[in-house]
Amino acid sequence: AASLSAHLRGAMSSEEKYTLYCGLMLPKETHSAESLKFAQDFAFEDQDVIGVVYPKSGTIWMQEILPLVLNGGDPTPVQTIPNWDRVPWLEEKRLALVVDKMESPRGLVTHFPYYLMPPSFHTSKAKVIYVMRNPKDIVVSSYYFHKMAEFLDKPGTFDEFMEKFLEGKVLFGKWTDHVKSWRSTDLGDRIMYITYEEMVQDLPAALRRISDFLGRNLSEEAIQKIAEHCSFATMKRNSMSNFSLVPKVYMNSDTSPFLRKGIVGDWKNHFSPEQLARFSSVIRKELEGENFSLPWSLD
Ligand code: A3P
Repeated sequence: AASLSAHLRGAMSSEEKYTLYCGLMLPKETHSAESLKFAQDFAFEDQDVIGVVYPKSGTIWMQEILPLVLNGGDPTPVQTIPNWDRVPWLEEKRLALVVDKMESPRGLVTHFPYYLMPPSFHTSKAKVIYVMRNPKDIVVSSYYFHKMAEFLDKPGTFDEFMEKFLEGKVLFGKWTDHVKSWRSTDLGDRIMYITYEEMVQDLPAALRRISDFLGRNLSEEAIQKIAEHCSFATMKRNSMSNFSLVPKVYMNSDTSPFLRKGIVGDWKNHFSPEQLARFSSVIRKELEGENFSLPWSLD
C-alpha cells in the first residue's frame, strides 16, 4: 500500500523505480534479483521459441503472434490468458509463477541483449525471432509509454527524452547496443530477423515467414485467421492484450493507450529538423563499421 500511494503521488525517485542489472536500467515493478537469477538459471527446451524485441518495437505483438502460429490459429490462449502469462518475459517476475503451466512448444519474449542470454539458451536448439523497428518510431512510442506507465520515470519534454534515449538512460539501454548484439550471433539458422514495418505493411506475408521458420507451414486460411486476431484493431479490443487489466495507477490508458497508433512514421509528427539531424548522426556513428545495414533510412 505504501508503494502504491507513492505511485499515486508520483513521488518515487529513479533509484526507487529502477534496478541496475549489468549496466541496464530495469523497472523494479516487473524485475527483481530473483527474477533475473531465475532467467539465468532457466532451462531452455529445444522446442522453445523466443521473440527478442527492444522495448517498443512489437513485443506485445509477438505475444499475440507466437501462440497463434504455434497452435495453428486457435484463439483460445490469446482470448483467455493475459499476454504477460501467455508468452512471459524471460527476465520478469511472472515467469516463475507460470512456467509450470506452460505447454510445449513454449513461447517466450525477452528484451535482453544477446550477451545476457542464459547458458541453457546456447546449448538448446530454441529458435529466435528478432523484431527490429525504426528507432525514430521507437523513441516516439517510448516517450508516450513513459507518460502513461507510472512505474517509469516521467519522460520530460520530447527533446529531453530523446537525449536520454540516445545516451541509453532508458529501459534496457541503448537501442544500437541491442541491435549490434543480436546482429552478430553464432545462432545460424536458429535466428530469423523481421521488422515491425514489414509486419505493418503485410501481416499475412510476415506470418507466412514466421510460420515457415517455425516449421508450421500453415494453410492460407489459417494465416488469414491469425492475421485477423493479430491486427491492431483486434488487439486493441482484446482485454487480454491491451493492458486494461492493469490498474490505472500503474498504466494510465487515459494519458496514452498502450496500443497507441500502431503505424510507421509517427516520428515525422514529433521530430524537428534539428532533432532529426542529431538523432541520425548519433545512431549512424554508433553503427559505423558494423557488418549489417539498416532496413530504413535514418534521414
Ligand atoms: P506505438 O506506440 O507506436 O503505437 P512493445 O509491445 O514492444 O512495447 O511495442 C509497443 C508498440 O507496438 C506500440 O507502438 C504499439 O501500438 C505497437 N503494436 C502492438 N501491437 C500492434 C499491432 N497489432 N499492429 C501494429 N502495431 C502494434
